[in-house]
Amino acid sequence: MYMGNLSYWNHKFEARSQKLMQPEDRLVNDMPSLPKSGSVLDLACGDGRNAIFLAAHGYKVTAVDFSNIAIERLNQFASQKRLHISALQKDLCIEESYYDLGEFDLIIINHYRLENRFYPVLEQHLKENGVLWVNGFCEVPKDHPDMKQEDMIAPADLNELRQLTCESTTNYAVGTRKFIRYIWRKLA
Ligand SMILES: C[S@@+](CC[C@H](N)C(=O)[O-])C[C@H]1O[C@@H](n2cnc3c(N)ncnc32)[C@H](O)[C@@H]1O
Repeated sequence: MYMGNLSYWNHKFEARSQKLMQPEDRLVNDMPSLPKSGSVLDLACGDGRNAIFLAAHGYKVTAVDFSNIAIERLNQFASQKRLHISALQKDLCIEESYYDLGEFDLIIINHYRLENRFYPVLEQHLKENGVLWVNGFCEVPKDHPDMKQEDMIAPADLNELRQLTCESTTNYAVGTRKFIRYIWRKLA
């Protein structure tokens, strides 16, 4: 499996250039629908393109990934830009990783399939009126041989959410690649 394979991801981040990637377009486009300020948790943050984008917009950012190489790169990029991000190396398949994370106005998950049993855990980490933003592949892309069906976000994954209300679901395509994006809110 492509998700959850630490050596796969460490090799991938080691092979990347020293240039920070652009933030996710969909996140940038969705900014008007997200809390305007406050605290953000970026789960499976990679080397930080979205965490850094959000920190640069004034959010207080906590970013989590299991790849030590990704976390090192994120810290380097953040310090080059004189931004503070709390970057934590944690495995998101382990329950203990969610202890003591704190409460957030916004939680984002971009291109990572969270195990469905952890969605109710995330609810506990959202403040009232907080938003959960999830974006990723919904069909195995033909041009990405490493990805498998089990890496795809499935609508049923989010059935575990009890305290949140779905504000928006969008299916979209970029070329031949098919994606889904959800916005859920913890109503007061
Ligand atoms: C496709 S990348 C997305 C990175 C980032 N969200 C972005 O948009 O650039 C998937 C990320 O999930 C992380 N990951 C995979 N399995 C994980 C796990 N079990 N716990 C924490 N992070 C994990 C990888 O290290 C990688 O950074």
